[in-house]
Amino acid sequence: MKKLYLIYPKKKGTIAPEIYGHFSEHIGGVIYDGIWVGKDSKVPNIRGFRKDIIDKFKAINPPVLRWPGGCYAEVYDWRDGIGDNRPTRINWWSYRDGRNEPNEVGTHEFMDFCELVGTKAYFAANLTAMTPMHIRNWMDYCLSPRGSTTLAIEREKNGHPEPFDIPYWGVGNENWGGGGNMRPEFYADECRRYATLMHNVSHDVELYACGSDSTKYEWTHGTVPNLDDKTTGFSMHYYCGRAGDPLTFTNEEWELMMVKAQKMEEIILRNWNIICAHGKQDELKLVVDEWGCWHPDGSGPSKGYNLFEQQSTMRDAVVSALTLNIFNNHCDKIRMANVAQLCNNLHALFLAGGEICIVTPTYHVFDMYKGHQGAEAIETVVTNNDDFANSISVSASVNGGKMLVTLGNLSCTEDAEISLEGIGVELSSKGKVTILAHEDMHAHNTFEDPETVAPITTDFDISKPLILPKAGIAAIEIEIE
Ligand code: AHR
Repeated sequence: MKKLYLIYPKKKGTIAPEIYGHFSEHIGGVIYDGIWVGKDSKVPNIRGFRKDIIDKFKAINPPVLRWPGGCYAEVYDWRDGIGDNRPTRINWWSYRDGRNEPNEVGTHEFMDFCELVGTKAYFAANLTAMTPMHIRNWMDYCLSPRGSTTLAIEREKNGHPEPFDIPYWGVGNENWGGGGNMRPEFYADECRRYATLMHNVSHDVELYACGSDSTKYEWTHGTVPNLDDKTTGFSMHYYCGRAGDPLTFTNEEWELMMVKAQKMEEIILRNWNIICAHGKQDELKLVVDEWGCWHPDGSGPSKGYNLFEQQSTMRDAVVSALTLNIFNNHCDKIRMANVAQLCNNLHALFLAGGEICIVTPTYHVFDMYKGHQGAEAIETVVTNNDDFANSISVSASVNGGKMLVTLGNLSCTEDAEISLEGIGVELSSKGKVTILAHEDMHAHNTFEDPETVAPITTDFDISKPLILPKAGIAAIEIEIE
């Protein structure tokens, strides 16, 4: 038996809704035949976007969607995606899959999708191949008040008189690699140059500098002291990668994946420590704008025709639960996070092809956790009498009179029996619990069996222990006094 103490009012801070953010790059099948099917498609759509995805995505309250990349952002010219004559270009990823970029989805279409699903947009600006003036013009086009500039008038002619809602802008992407292969000090200077002009267009948008790649802290050391106060976010990427086959992994590979996923916490702390060492903790927060598993290609429904498309099992769902718990527990340091990617790709929430669209177990985790958005994270302690210390991942938050407790069982062999106790808070005896679990840790949804993994919600009596199945996830909602 384990004990979970929920300590209130010991608050850790507010969980920024944007921690539950997403990412949709022009890569593989994310956009084309993923979210976008085209206006003339037989697939039910709203102005070209797959209706199924609009409805299901909207239901999990997505707070922010990053676009157009990733690496693709560093070869993107926003002018290619405006107006009637759209050129076909070599995509960043064409060298991998031979697929060129038709530019059917540009700024207006992407923002239409955001409006349809009710999310804000986070644009990644091209700092490798475009001038600061070119990026400034994109911002002018998107953000200037109706009729106020020539570019705002062009936006109106193209169908959107009012400014777009794009409060977040990345100043480059992975500039230590695909984004120009820069050295950190050089990037910091470039970032200041671009951010100066970007900030000059709008003081209201948040600008995020390119941060480090997983454990490569020399980038953090080289950039953080040299950035100026125009950038208020430090984007960091950490993919916990692969451990065996995405569908037929062993118990040992399950555990290895959990260990790799837990490393997210260390990476957050190490980056944060450097930010604090430079006294920037009040002005520069972490933006984990790419995270997730990255399995070998070929397990998705299109069998490898879509670059990086992969199936997503209960293992990916538990990685999601663990990662989101880490973010909640470090919400004082994290401004935003974006799981990579939305559809038909790495750690996806949706798999779609032709007329079919299904959700992965990870989708259900985002649904179960959505009540954390904007809530106050509180302290939790799990005591273990009988097994290894880190087998339960937990976070909890309070919003009004409700507490949401989310748990992941990182063991793929042992169910956990957990009793809950409030410290400093009276928990009402009646609650609700939603469990996402399956007796087979390899379980996943397919085009043929889309409901193999689905959550079940029941009443929960807090005075009795919770049985958290092995490789399972729980979300408990309790009223508090
Ligand atoms: O998400 C796939 C790729 O991973 C992104 O384009 C890039 O930023 C990262 O290396």
